[in-house]
Amino acid sequence: MKTAAAVLHEIERPMPYADSRPMVIEELDLDGPGEGEVLVEMKGAGLCHSDLSVINGSRPRPMPMVLGHEASGIVREVGTGVRGLKPDDHVIFTFIPSCDHCRYCKEGKPSLCEPGAEANNAGVLMNGAQRFSNKGRSYFHHCGVSGYSQYTIALPGSLVKIDSTLPFEYATLFGCAVMTGTGAAMNTANIRPHQTVAVFGLGGVGLAALMGAKACNAGQIIAVDLLNSKLEMAKKLGATHTVNAKESNPIEVIKDLTHGGVDIAIESAGNSTVLAQAYESTMRGGTTIAIGLPHPDHKLSIPAVTLSAMEKTITGSYQGSCVPTRDIPKFIDMYHAGQLPVDQLLTDTISLEDINTGFDRLHKGEVARQVILF
Ligand SMILES: NC(=O)c1ccc[n+]([C@@H]2O[C@H](COP(=O)([O-])OP(=O)(O)OC[C@H]3O[C@@H](n4cnc5c(N)ncnc54)[C@H](O)[C@@H]3O)[C@@H](O)[C@H]2O)c1
Ligand SMILES: [Zn+2]
Ligand SMILES: [Zn+2]
Repeated sequence: MKTAAAVLHEIERPMPYADSRPMVIEELDLDGPGEGEVLVEMKGAGLCHSDLSVINGSRPRPMPMVLGHEASGIVREVGTGVRGLKPDDHVIFTFIPSCDHCRYCKEGKPSLCEPGAEANNAGVLMNGAQRFSNKGRSYFHHCGVSGYSQYTIALPGSLVKIDSTLPFEYATLFGCAVMTGTGAAMNTANIRPHQTVAVFGLGGVGLAALMGAKACNAGQIIAVDLLNSKLEMAKKLGATHTVNAKESNPIEVIKDLTHGGVDIAIESAGNSTVLAQAYESTMRGGTTIAIGLPHPDHKLSIPAVTLSAMEKTITGSYQGSCVPTRDIPKFIDMYHAGQLPVDQLLTDTISLEDINTGFDRLHKGEVARQVILF
């Protein structure tokens, strides 16, 4: 079949993308669904900084690629051998495919799935397939999702069935921003009531982490960003204090507010210098959660002795340490119960044609999440 998709052929085009147009809308051929594969009609696809990082060269991937990894849609056809999904099911995509049988999947850590990570790095589905092509040339998949396409082929291990009443513009956000941010707060950090929390970087992911901290009944929640508009959003979502890191030193302000540092600092700016600041802002025995995905060459610099002498912890969080089949339904229930105002993360809905301008806006930090509606 044919599908219109936004394709990235070349990284590191100059900004603004509205002029250099790194993403090109093309009509592609889409094969399948083969055995064990699922054809999904895309309904919503979000613009996340991890897509922007592929476009600007911070997250090297093979080209040409159909980007997009935060998405939701409707199952249209299933290949032979697919169980648990059928046409008309509404689904949210996870961005790390899980195989169900590697040592990580077996230990209940599907976000670390080994074949899933290998497939994502190679830009193929976990069964090795590439289903997009144009004039016989194969195109790469992004994270087993490729959300910026009217239709896609995915594996069941990338899909979570949801109730059909949830509007797609909100359903989409659970696939990355909410799983990543809220999952980091609730799963990775496992924030306990009254603990003090700082969140550095208030995009869709950081704001979802802040919501998670609030849902865990954290005590002080200190939100840090360079933009006052983001600090205002954070206040509405439950931040008790805000710091503009352009105007004051966030480490000093946080230590002052908390009499020595926070229990938990979450880094969601995607910058190793900010990760070091987050670490410095934790108290003795405090924990730093790294969500951001800086360029692979960037190193973290911290005073090593403080790890031992202050019993500090740094831990990574990928896809919010979620088990998607467990956590997506849980987070949707919390949304319906008013505990996670996920709808507040949505700044705008846009069309596929506006994708380059959308990434300009994300780069400037003007928006939390924009969702392409198909
Ligand atoms: N670990 C995961 O599973 C996972 C999943 C999705 C996204 N990510 C990563 O998380 C990060 C955030 O993603 P997003 O989509 O929310 O990004 P975003 O661009 O929407 O938000 C980033 C925010 O950080 C702020 N910021 C930039 N520099 C800062 C500084 N020096 N101090 C404080 N704030 C600063 C920006 O103003 C912006 O508000 C990215 O690195 C992304 O790649 C990780
Ligand atoms: Zn993402
Ligand atoms: Zn696995």
